[in-house]
Amino acid sequence: MGINIRGRSFLTLLDFTPEEIRYLLSLSADFKAKKRSGEVHKYLEGKNIVLLFEKTSTRTRCAFETAAFDLGMGVTFLDQKSSQMGKKESLRDTANVLGRMYDGIEYRGYEQKVVEDLAKYSGVPVWNGLTDDFHPTQMLADILTVQEEFGDLHHKKLVFMGDARNNVANSLMVVCSKLGMHYVACGPKSLMPKESLVKQCKAIAKETGAKIELLDDVKKATKDADVIYTDIWLSMGEDPSLWKKRISLLKPYQVNQKVMKNASPDAIFMHCLPSFHDRNTEVGEEIYQTYGLESMEVADDVFYGPQSRVFKEAENRQHTIKAVMYATLY
Ligand code: CP
Ligand code: NVA
Repeated sequence: MGINIRGRSFLTLLDFTPEEIRYLLSLSADFKAKKRSGEVHKYLEGKNIVLLFEKTSTRTRCAFETAAFDLGMGVTFLDQKSSQMGKKESLRDTANVLGRMYDGIEYRGYEQKVVEDLAKYSGVPVWNGLTDDFHPTQMLADILTVQEEFGDLHHKKLVFMGDARNNVANSLMVVCSKLGMHYVACGPKSLMPKESLVKQCKAIAKETGAKIELLDDVKKATKDADVIYTDIWLSMGEDPSLWKKRISLLKPYQVNQKVMKNASPDAIFMHCLPSFHDRNTEVGEEIYQTYGLESMEVADDVFYGPQSRVFKEAENRQHTIKAVMYATLY
């Protein structure tokens, strides 16, 4: 039977079967080829979408906008400053209004429940562009990048180093369990994913042949890994006063040459971005002045080194988001 996810929302990959995820990956590869060859693909002409951002973004916003333009759609961008959302109008009422004007809604914000409510009350497909819990569109780009590198995903070992209970780490654990991969959360015990999510992923892993491990020993965790992945140590929405504690907890989990040497010789480095790998950002410089760190979650020579795939991964956001919009709207 063919895969059909038309009309569905894309809130977390927990809602999708491995076959549906593979279908989205294959569609993404098709769209990437079309984009590369210059083949026009305005398959959704006449449709309009709205992008709601309660947190800042470069990649996700630009990927949604450019993908929508390529598909022939109209786009409205709204943030908290320029809309009534949250201040003068509830999310429920906003959802109701937007669902009558738009064919699809992207949302980036805080609680997962908000994106779920948007889907419930708008009546149109809603795409999660990042919440405190999950970042599912990022996952498709990440896995497409892994697939482009290694082909077969089965039992590929992906190690997430750092804040292993953040939105990106949670989502990696979900997608790796769905696709039969070997996922390792490598970080301090106090920053491990919620027990309930681990349990859910381990149950999925039993079905798919995936393996899930939570380890605080860097050497053991990264041994022979195919992918070393990290993310910033303090996510959007977290209190900046937490930097001091987070740095002391996560310093031993920085991705550096020693880590990369312990991984497989063919290993790649991945990061969802943005990244604090040098002093060329306001935060990076502030952290250097306060704590003397030149780089945080990843050393500069790994970030720009030959094993890094971070910019390819970023480009893949466009192709994969296009696939999600197409598959749910066409
Ligand atoms: N990776 C990612 O979501 O980047 P942005 O925050 O720039 O959208
Ligand atoms: N964990 C990060 C991901 C950014 C794409 C954050 O939520 O800020």
